[in-house]
Amino acid sequence: MKFYHILKSAHSGWRYLVLILLVVAIVTAIAGWLGKKPYTEGNRKLNVFTLIFVHIQILFGLVLYFVSPLVEAGIRYWKMEHIAMMIFAAILVTVGNARSKRVEDPSGKHRTIALYFGLGLIVIIASIIQMTMADPSRSFFGVS
Ligand code: HEM
Repeated sequence: MKFYHILKSAHSGWRYLVLILLVVAIVTAIAGWLGKKPYTEGNRKLNVFTLIFVHIQILFGLVLYFVSPLVEAGIRYWKMEHIAMMIFAAILVTVGNARSKRVEDPSGKHRTIALYFGLGLIVIIASIIQMTMADPSRSFFGVS
């Protein structure tokens, strides 16, 4: 198996961990925000963990970008849109986590995570949907 194929499968499968962690972190943050719950060490760890998993996915993607024949072929979605949207989503998650540290009150911390991680998730989902339109052989829940 070539390096490209291993990396492609890793990047393809890692998306599920990213999506699951984002959903869990967002649901937890909304529950904490609306339920006026304390911001626990567990909450902080979940959010940092989610951030790290998003960053690992970006690293897989960045390496893939230089070895994928699709980028080489100059296909617009892979060359421009995928990287731009995914990096933007990762910036939202990174900024959200950083800002949550600076907010004092627990409900504000939960709200910051819910909003930034929520927006990041929407951008990721939009980009994956766009991928299935740009390349009909791909599906939202496929693994390649
Ligand atoms: C949160 C961030 C990201 C997510 C959730 C994500 C998700 C995905 C998904 C679902 C695929 C299709 C896999 C398949 O069809 O099985 C894919 C492919 C790809 N991604 Fe990402 N991606 C992210 C970030 C990035 C970044 C930042 C880059 C580039 C710098 C990148 C480069 C690529 C490339 C080049 C492919 C096509 C690989 C190929 O089939 O040759 N990704 N990504």
